[in-house]
Amino acid sequence: MAYMLSTTNFSKMSEFIYRKSGIFLEEQKHYEKLAKFIDARAEKLGAENFRKYFFKLRFEDKDGSEFQELMNGMTVNETYFFREKEQFEVLVGHILPELHKKLPKDKVLRILSAPSSTGEEPYSIILHIIEEGVIMEERDIEVVGIDIDSKVIEKAIAGKYSERSVHAIPKPMLKEWFVKKPMGHEISDDLKGTVDFKVTNIFDKAMLRKLGKFDVIFSRNMMIYFDDASRKEVAMSFYDMLDPGGYVLLGHAEYMSRIVSVFTARKIDTTLIYQK
Ligand SMILES: C[S@@+](CC[C@H](N)C(=O)[O-])C[C@H]1O[C@@H](n2cnc3c(N)ncnc32)[C@H](O)[C@@H]1O
Repeated sequence: MAYMLSTTNFSKMSEFIYRKSGIFLEEQKHYEKLAKFIDARAEKLGAENFRKYFFKLRFEDKDGSEFQELMNGMTVNETYFFREKEQFEVLVGHILPELHKKLPKDKVLRILSAPSSTGEEPYSIILHIIEEGVIMEERDIEVVGIDIDSKVIEKAIAGKYSERSVHAIPKPMLKEWFVKKPMGHEISDDLKGTVDFKVTNIFDKAMLRKLGKFDVIFSRNMMIYFDDASRKEVAMSFYDMLDPGGYVLLGHAEYMSRIVSVFTARKIDTTLIYQK
């Protein structure tokens, strides 16, 4: 099957995507996905060749909606509840008690899930905090979830999940916090609205500033799609977004020591956490 996107133009597109989102596409792995996406979008927009589509994307996309389509089409959103759950246990067993003891009584404790994808990660944070039971009674806690993909943020706000997505949640907890529906599981009204979701590109410094400061940042399984320069930029943004003494948690395959040296690494059981 012949696609509109030639391999030379693949380089142009991937360079554009990299510059705007940090996502690093490799020809061997991603050519077909990108080529199919461009064929579909070009047909929809009435662009008869790649040059016309690329022109629309770069110069006529005043409201950013075509770039948003591109991001929604090219991101990998795989996630599920309680993924790498030791990190949530370290959060409620070590990090939150330490911060709760140290911080002024009236300070809101703020946690960021960047990226949140469809919401399973920030809701897993909330569920662990509720189960812990003590800190939330004594202190206000805010959880914010961000992602570049507007479709996943819409899904996160809707809070409807498949069987696969909830498979790792212990059954009693699933029964208590979700409503069984024919299509799967919907988060209960009590949980709805407990996470503040926003479409945000992690490279958009102005938007990051608007989110304010955080005490804990979860950033799992996003930087694996970036190259070293972008990882460094994101790690330094996290440093700026954290209050002193705040923590970053990365995915299992991601190591801060390979990115920047400004954080102090601590190991709790088998989990590495990084402190400002
Ligand atoms: C594999 S999911 C990870 C979700 C969750 N943190 C987890 O570990 O299960 C990766 C997410 O990163 C998001 N992403 C990729 N580039 C991004 C960027 N520049 N800014 C914000 N989110 C981004 C994608 O849209 C996708 O939803």
